[in-house]
Order: sequence, then structure tokens, then C-alpha cells
Amino acid sequence: MSNDSGGDLFSLCRRRGFVWPSFELYGGVAGMYDYGPLGSNMRNNIVEVWRDIYRGREGFIEIDSETVNPREVFKASGHVDEFADLVTYCKGCEAASRADHLVKEFFDNPDVLTPKELDEAFVKFKVKCPECGGDLGPVEEFNLMFKTAIGPGSSRVGYLRPETAQGIFVNYLNLYRYNREKLPLGVIQTGRGYRNEIAPRQGMIRMREFNMMEVELFVDPADKGWIRFPEIENDPITLVPNTGTETVTMTVGEAVEKGIIANKVLAYFVYTTQQFLTRLGIDPKRLRFRQHLRDEMAHYAMDCWDAEVLLSYGWIEITGIADRGCWDLSRHAEFSGTDLTHFKKFDEPKEMEIDKVKAKHKALGPKFKEKAKAIAEIMETKLPSDVRDGKLALDLEDNEIVLDGEFFEVVKVREKVSGERVVPHVIEPSHGLDRIFYSVLEHSFAYDKENDYTVLRLAPEVAPIKAGIFPLMEKDGMDALAMDIYKKVHSPSTEAYYDGSGTIGRRYARMDEVGTPWCITVDYESLDGPLKGTVTIRDRDTAAQKRIPADSVPDILRLLLSGRQFDSL
Ligand code: ATP
Ligand code: GLY
Repeated sequence: MSNDSGGDLFSLCRRRGFVWPSFELYGGVAGMYDYGPLGSNMRNNIVEVWRDIYRGREGFIEIDSETVNPREVFKASGHVDEFADLVTYCKGCEAASRADHLVKEFFDNPDVLTPKELDEAFVKFKVKCPECGGDLGPVEEFNLMFKTAIGPGSSRVGYLRPETAQGIFVNYLNLYRYNREKLPLGVIQTGRGYRNEIAPRQGMIRMREFNMMEVELFVDPADKGWIRFPEIENDPITLVPNTGTETVTMTVGEAVEKGIIANKVLAYFVYTTQQFLTRLGIDPKRLRFRQHLRDEMAHYAMDCWDAEVLLSYGWIEITGIADRGCWDLSRHAEFSGTDLTHFKKFDEPKEMEIDKVKAKHKALGPKFKEKAKAIAEIMETKLPSDVRDGKLALDLEDNEIVLDGEFFEVVKVREKVSGERVVPHVIEPSHGLDRIFYSVLEHSFAYDKENDYTVLRLAPEVAPIKAGIFPLMEKDGMDALAMDIYKKVHSPSTEAYYDGSGTIGRRYARMDEVGTPWCITVDYESLDGPLKGTVTIRDRDTAAQKRIPADSVPDILRLLLSGRQFDSL
């Protein structure tokens, strides 16, 4: 990790079982990490907060799709042709470097530079190989997807998904039907994404196998509002619009009115991201939303905002919130030949000018004889969007026939119609779980040098262990009572930790170091005298202690976890 604070934190993460470099036994592989027991707990807690917001509050549905996808999916999505970073290889030691990262200090936005501009920048700024100081070779494109074969040999090319989003798009029809063909349709998915990053050097910020929490909201393109927008329109948000480099704070409503964020639904989910991240414990003063420059945007995006947090590495993107427009569904419709439109019913039928496929009977008759009538009927059920490269395919008695423009035309007609077909637009908050996990740790990490004391001030709902439970000493029945309390409290969602060894101060310090918000101690007074049947509960952040009945510990922890203040106990 890059500096002292990151370094201390990372050693804590390893020592206490949050994160371990993968395959350490065999020397490790750059950009790969395993989650230990505390890390897994904490990561699951972050996912639960995300579910609470999207499935709970917003009513979205969740799916789980495959991580290996056939090539067709990523050809349609644009990743086969576009999902590349620029690489340069050292002419001496052959080390690969991400070309734009080597000129970061000379440009505000190096990732918009072309290979030629980067080659020139290397010469102009005398940029050398970061590993050995050697000369750099020509900059070239490197596709970040891991390629594989589905089945033996190379029978079918597949890729590990670089984003979970495509699994939602390719299931759009199933999801749309499940939602009874209504919009808006909100779908979430969490799971692994894979990117063969060129030179991952920033710990958990740039991994080759990572975890995502993605949200895809399908909306009517003519209705980019959101029912809850009025609830938050007067709340503040910190933005860096792409018209400059200044940070501005304004209300969400103002950002939409001034045309800074493209529409209300995108603005709502930028704000939701702010709520989500601050609820996890990201410091609002070290959080901002930066709009992508036009030429920085991914191939699919119409508008995009990155949630960036200030870490020991500088400002780092942890979530991207994009208006993907109709890109994904249009492309999958085109490549799969399937209609992925939404039928938007009007309140009242309207007279409209529409395009229709019309059969050319005079051409069909001589060629298809007695079948001409049936062909014409099927033809006229087709949509103009079914015409591809000037040809129309249709099924006749189980045989596909493909007809060219000699047999049909697309004409404009005025008709009373009950609705129209539209390609839904997609609003996507895409959260990088590992970057969020690491950022929450860094923003919660506090080190007191004088006392050599570390505390992780984790939000209780994120903390991997909710309560430490200790007997003052492991004797005279204190251990039995403490164990009894532990058994009543401990569950997969409320992890408790029993610890009977070492001084009590040392045990508190061990819990503070991993962010445990409360510790319960059974002492002699719990067993005998006027305070019999009570235990102490200690608050991590203030070190304040109170006495509470031993049998109320599970209920009190539940109250605290649902937001009750320690002081009010
Ligand atoms: P960067 O510019 O830093 O490479 P990106 O713009 O490619 O990121 P997105 O494609 O928007 O990132 O991916 C969505 C989210 O997934 C990011 O906000 C980030 O949190 C996460 N992410 C992307 N790549 C990685 C990676 N290699 N390791 C860990 N998380 C990642
Ligand atoms: N699904 C958004 C991204 O991976 O960039």
C-alpha cells in the first residue's frame, strides 16, 4: 500500500484477518486478494446495507447470473472492441505499464490521450520505465477481458465478465415479464467481475478479480423522473461538473435545474450513492461526485458521475453512476435479433403517423403463388425494426424465409394507436465493493501514536464483530455467565466474540482495533451483591461504560444496532 496510513492499515488487515494477498504460499499474484473471516463479515455487511437501500427501500429485484459469458454477449455490449487500456512495454526489462498512468503528473485527464499522443508525451517529458528506468516501447491497446473456452478445445470462445451488468441486460426479457411488462424496472446484482489489469500496484483499488454491486434501472426515455425525487431535492451534494475542475456544493434540485446532472432519475441515484456511502462510514468531507468529460466516458454512457473518495492514494473512483441510454438493449436487440422494446400504453388511443411494414402483393404473388397471402399476412405483423440490412426474415410453416425489398416496403401511415414501442434507457449505479470496503476502512482508521493504540471507528452495521463478550477472569462462574451471554447474542448477522485471556484493557484494545462497537464484561459484581445479575457495557468511541441487566444484553444490542444512542441507555 502506498503510504504510512495505508501501510499500517494493510498490516492490520493481514494480522487480524480482514484481507490476505492471494496465493502468498506461492509468492502471490499482483492484483489478487482473499478476504479473511473479519473481511468476509464486513464485506457481507456492506452488501446488506446496499440490499436494504435497493431491495428494501426502492423495491428493486435481485438476480445472480453467470460469470463466464459467450463472446456474443461482449461483442454486442462493445467490450470485445472497446474495453481496452493502453499499455507500453519497457524495451529493457519488458515490464508492462499502463501508459496513461505514466504521464499523470503532466495532464489533468491522461486517460483521454491517444497512443500517438502518449508516445509523444513520453519523449517530451522524458518518461522512462518505472521498474528499471529503461526506454519505453510504442503504446498499444490491450483488451482487459480474460478470454477462455467454453467446452473442450476452443469450441466456443468465452470471456469472464468485466462487469455484472451484462447478465442483467441479457435477461431483460425474463425480468420485464417478471415485472409484468412495466417500467420502471430496477434490478440489482452482486458478484465477481474480472479485468486483466495491466499493472495493478494500488492494493485493493486495482484488482484483477473483484466484487461489484451493480444496479440497472430501466426507465421510459420520456420519463426520467423518480417518485422519491421531491424527498431529496433540497438536500446538498458536492459535485465537480465537467465544465471545470472546481468543486461546488448545491442542492440536488439545483443540479438538475441548471442542467448539470442530466435528469432527475440520474440525480436521485447520485444522491442515493452519497447516502449509501456515508451510511457505511465514508467521510462526507472526503467524498465528491465528478462528472466524466465527454471523451472520458465509457462507450455506452450519455452522462456519467464518479463517486470519488480521498484516500492515501489521492482521489479514487469507488462508484460510477451512468446514464447508459438505450445502448445496451439496442445492441442486444440488434445482435440477438430479438425485440427488447417496452410497449408504452397511452391513456387514450392517439392518432399518430407511424412506420409500418407493407407487403408488395404484386411481387409476392408470381413468386410464391398460393403461399403469397400467408406470407403477406405474417409480413404485416412485423415491425420496421425487424428489417435488417434491407431484408426481412420470417417463419413460414417452420421454415425461415428471408425476403428483400422487392417484396415489402416500410411506409408511413396515420393510425389510431393504443401505445408505442420504446427502447428503455438504463440508469446504472455501479459500485466497486472492494474499493468501498477499503475506503471505509481507511476513513475509519485512527492511530494514536503516543499510546500506540489503533481504533477502527466502523459504523455498527458494518463492523464485522458487533460485541466482544468477556469474563473479567475465567473462573468463579464469570466464564459460565459470559459464555451464556455469548451464546444468546451470537448469530451470523450479529457476530459476537468471546475472549477470556489477557488483561481486560488488552481485550478492549483488540476489539477496538477491529472496530467492535461494544464490549460486555462479566465481573464479580455480576455474581454477588447489590449489582448481582448486571454486567458492564462499554462503548468503543467514548470508552464510556454502563451497567445493564445481563439478561437484557441481546435486546440492548438490538436497540443499539438499530440506531439507539449509547448515551440514552
Ligand atoms: P478505473 O478508471 O479506476 O479503472 P473504471 O472507470 O474502469 O475504474 P468502472 O468501469 O466504472 O471503473 O467500474 C465500476 C466500479 O468497479 C468502479 O467504480 C470501481 O469501484 C470498481 N472497479 C473497477 N475496476 C476495478 C478493479 N480493477 N479493482 C477493483 N475495483 C474495480
Ligand atoms: N457496469 C459498469 C462498469 O463496469 O463500468
